[in-house]
Amino acid sequence: MNLTTRYLGLELKTPLMPGASPLATRLDNIRRLEDAGASAIVLHSLFAEQIEGNAVAVSRHIERWQDTFAEATSFFPQNDDYLLGPDEYLNRITAIKTATNLPVIASLNGTHLGTWTDYARLMEKAGADALELNTYFMATRRDESGEAVEQRVLDIARAVRASVRIPIAVKLSPFYTSTVHLTGQLEDAGIDGVVLFNRIFQPEIDIETFDVVPKLGLSSPEDLRVRLRALALLRDQVKVSLACSGGVHTAADVVKALLAGADAIQIVAALLRDGPDTLGTILAELKVWMEKFEYNSVAEMRGALSLRNCPDPEAYERGNYLRSLQLWRE
Ligand SMILES: Cc1cc2nc3c(=O)[nH]c(=O)nc-3n(C[C@H](O)[C@H](O)[C@H](O)COP(=O)(O)O)c2cc1C
Repeated sequence: MNLTTRYLGLELKTPLMPGASPLATRLDNIRRLEDAGASAIVLHSLFAEQIEGNAVAVSRHIERWQDTFAEATSFFPQNDDYLLGPDEYLNRITAIKTATNLPVIASLNGTHLGTWTDYARLMEKAGADALELNTYFMATRRDESGEAVEQRVLDIARAVRASVRIPIAVKLSPFYTSTVHLTGQLEDAGIDGVVLFNRIFQPEIDIETFDVVPKLGLSSPEDLRVRLRALALLRDQVKVSLACSGGVHTAADVVKALLAGADAIQIVAALLRDGPDTLGTILAELKVWMEKFEYNSVAEMRGALSLRNCPDPEAYERGNYLRSLQLWRE
């Protein structure tokens, strides 16, 4: 059975890898993931705010609200709160390359053009095989259009593209008006892949204390569906690599993501909850499913249920929307 896949130009022995998270903080964890069948390691992000310092980051964020500088500074973590400092991060890339045979995908995370993008070159020098660029950003201003928000992503992607030769994936938010159009533009800019999707910070309101509190709950398999749609839409309209990130908890979820069109599948919540060895269990169950349905390779599965054979995806989406509403019965 052939589980190999090609992602960002890398030949990988399986489609499964841990997503960006604290999972790759400890070398013993990374070795366990490698033994379980992970085909690459995605490191947690190094943030622009860490590289440039909070003051620079905050002043960018609040260009228009100067009097709130002190308060805005308090929103950000202090240097000691981050898992690794910028230099430690580079050393970690080299250490993982020395200790394992896994390709390392380093993650760089920021929202505005700035000197932080130069770190891409240092990550490449430290031995990273590819980069994941996370431009996590929530539009909050009335005078910033959707087009301008997308332009930010493209500008950052182009700046990073110009500074390194290694492959780059951009980790997208699920909330762009057209993921397909934006991905096409990233492809034109020389980007090698997209990761679908970022999980967006969703604040909670405490009705006893009147506080708005950050809440990072782990995902559920329900989170997978929005990814499946995007994968199926993108598979045959772009050539870049597609990674699924979000809501993959079981082998069944992996099967769905592959059938929709994923080249690679990143898992975080399930591995944080059940431990790194879970990746091996998921892989074993994937093989059982493939045997049952007589698939010899991941390549045969990939995109089997993409929208390739659907002449009018718009009508398909609209029709299914109407049908699901009409089929509801108490
Ligand atoms: C504790 C934690 C830390 C994370 N850190 C990062 C990060 O540094 N950079 C990033 O791009 N994504 C980060 N993520 C998001 C994950 O990479 C992933 O996209 C998300 O958890 C959805 O996948 P899952 O459903 O398998 O958990 C983090 C997620 C968790 C739960």
